[in-house]
Amino acid sequence: MAPFTDPSTPSAIIASLSSSPLFSFCLTARPLRPPPSTTMAHIYTLAPEISNYTSNRLTNATPARFPHTPVFASMNKPSRLEGEVYDLEVTGTIPADINGTFFRVQPDHRFPPLYEDDIHFNGDGSVTAIRIADGHADLKQRYVRTERYQHETRARKSLFGRYRNPWTDNESVKGVIRTASNTNVVFWRGVLLAMKEDGPPFAMDPVSLETLGRYDFEGQIVSPTFCAHPKVDPATGEMVCFAYEAGGDGADCSVDVAVWTIDAGGKKVEECWYTAPFAGMIHDCGISENYVVLALTPIKTDLERMKRGGNKFAWDPNEDQWYGVVPRRGAKSEDIIWFRADNGT
Ligand SMILES: [Fe+2]
Repeated sequence: MAPFTDPSTPSAIIASLSSSPLFSFCLTARPLRPPPSTTMAHIYTLAPEISNYTSNRLTNATPARFPHTPVFASMNKPSRLEGEVYDLEVTGTIPADINGTFFRVQPDHRFPPLYEDDIHFNGDGSVTAIRIADGHADLKQRYVRTERYQHETRARKSLFGRYRNPWTDNESVKGVIRTASNTNVVFWRGVLLAMKEDGPPFAMDPVSLETLGRYDFEGQIVSPTFCAHPKVDPATGEMVCFAYEAGGDGADCSVDVAVWTIDAGGKKVEECWYTAPFAGMIHDCGISENYVVLALTPIKTDLERMKRGGNKFAWDPNEDQWYGVVPRRGAKSEDIIWFRADNGT
């Protein structure tokens, strides 16, 4: 069994671009982030001065001043930029036969966070498109108009609290979809889907970057959570996607996991629900011709901790790394097989 990743996803594109001469030119806009490695780099390895976020100090949201913490400095300093730059300055030469668009998405806090010790991944999703043709590059950048975005725009301040913890939110946004759509962008049937695993995707026009709205696959997927790393089977054009914490309201630490397959025409052709051994993060998956592999990491949720205003996730050094393997076709809930491995600590 050889899991593969979709070569058309932005992550794959970034990975391939990072090793190409294309990256030798410089753009006048904000520098691109370092390309991801094949194993996900932890934020602490990129910015080791960021240790944790447990001070519980609230910020003064007026005026708009960001905390003086490493999370809001250096490469993580919010740009808060929407706009276009036509014909970017280029150092070097763009190969004339490159004709396409490089998309990226990044967390980019629009307003100072409610909590001084907020983390980068709690920032609003901001999508950049760099269109390259005839040796020229043009840039466009827009925020994803999530429901979170709309509410905070009206209030001119942050209303959502800690990362994926609704018990820390302003009362005015109770029940509002919290996702910031900041983790990945994937093409799907003519639209660009901005994704974060704590909520549904938001669809965007890939040319204008206008947000078209919350996307539920034409009503076929109603889970409150989704994933940021679906896989598109290059042989069939199917999207294989999944969600954890999928059975309840999306923030209740449920152990329900769902796996779906949507065919190239947009029709849901497979759906199966499973039970995980604990409520933990399943950030990514792998697929082969016949199987889906779900990587369940010992980064666990705790409902009581969240209700106390604490962190959504905490690493459990005594828990194994688990891998759930399920059939791609005709799967039943009892078909899941779990493999365990040492977690590396
Ligand atoms: Fe990721």
